[in-house]
Amino acid sequence: VTKLAERLKARIEASGPIGVDAFIAAALTDAECGYYATGEPLGAAGDFITAPEISAIFGELIGLWVAAVWRELGEPSPFALVELGPGRGTLLTDALRAVDRAVPACAAALRPVLIEVSRPLKAAQAQALATVWRGAAPVWLDDFAHVGAGPLIVLANEFFDALPIRQFVRVAEGWRERLVGIEAATGALTFVLGPLAPPPPVEQAAEAAEGAIVERCPAGEALAAAIAARLAVDAGAALIIDYGPRRSRPGETLQAVRRHRPTAVLDRPGEVDLSHHVDFAALAKAARRPGVAVFGPVPQGLFLGRLGIAERAAQLITHAPAREADIAGRVRRLVHPGRMGVLFNALALMTAGLGVPPGFASAAETAAAPSNALQ
Ligand SMILES: C[S@@+](CC[C@H](N)C(=O)[O-])C[C@H]1O[C@@H](n2cnc3c(N)ncnc32)[C@H](O)[C@@H]1O
Repeated sequence: VTKLAERLKARIEASGPIGVDAFIAAALTDAECGYYATGEPLGAAGDFITAPEISAIFGELIGLWVAAVWRELGEPSPFALVELGPGRGTLLTDALRAVDRAVPACAAALRPVLIEVSRPLKAAQAQALATVWRGAAPVWLDDFAHVGAGPLIVLANEFFDALPIRQFVRVAEGWRERLVGIEAATGALTFVLGPLAPPPPVEQAAEAAEGAIVERCPAGEALAAAIAARLAVDAGAALIIDYGPRRSRPGETLQAVRRHRPTAVLDRPGEVDLSHHVDFAALAKAARRPGVAVFGPVPQGLFLGRLGIAERAAQLITHAPAREADIAGRVRRLVHPGRMGVLFNALALMTAGLGVPPGFASAAETAAAPSNALQ
């Protein structure tokens, strides 16, 4: 039993079961015992590996995406490049190196802003950036809301999946929220059902059969809406990449991972990673407002293909033929439908009235083809 589990139990004993969202928030970001606040979760030695950690091509292509979007925005100078939850700083480092090489004027205008709650990861990010970046000093903030006014490009890879969700269970009489309580016999944390509640305001609630769980991420929806509100005022764009379906559907996706293996969600809070499948349709809906164009979601394999991942890999292989199998294997892992190519999706937001960001179809096409057309 972890120290955080003991603290959560004391809280539940004092005031009753807590929401799954409150459990996740404590387990991941509690300043003293939270998983991200204390550990070094990413990489081969950690608990999971993300796309930028698989191949530098991922971050490089996103860097070129940033430079292309910057041109589309009218080359604002300065502009903030905001990354939400930069992990070990790998994506940003690879992206900045690519921007610097390909479009120096964009690098000169760029002000890196890193949104991060984890102290050890902030240190890792600073170290990683110092190896490549000679431009404006990076700034760390712990909340997107604190990003100052002005043009901005926002990146988020595997960030929304770490935000707290609420879960609702369809029962015979209606809906109940799933909560975290204490099992009387063992004293362990367990799921319990709350009182009857109104239906959760998500599309997938309508198709939920009795016993089904539907999830909602109010924090993710609020963040998507906040980013869109900024893009309606300041020229800018956002690129959100994460795992989750293009079409909302019922089902529990909350999962715990430790050392690359699934584990129980309620065991060892603070010591295991918790994440859920991002509901892209809900994010797109939350972001839709006058003055903002929404693009996608597009499957990661298609998105990276359109950005030229095959050409970039071929170029690297020409320079380092001995690494062919390694490079090809890593690219395959990012784009193959059986790996990250389809489960992961990319969604873009951009100030309305500009062009189409690289990797996406036109806004009209996106609107004409419902987000589930590709599934
Ligand atoms: C799954 S990791 C992804 C890291 C990185 N983007 C990558 O792709 O490798 C989630 C990141 O978001 C940070 N994070 C999680 N919740 C956060 C929150 N509420 N506010 C700010 N950062 C958060 C974590 O510390 C970590 O850097």
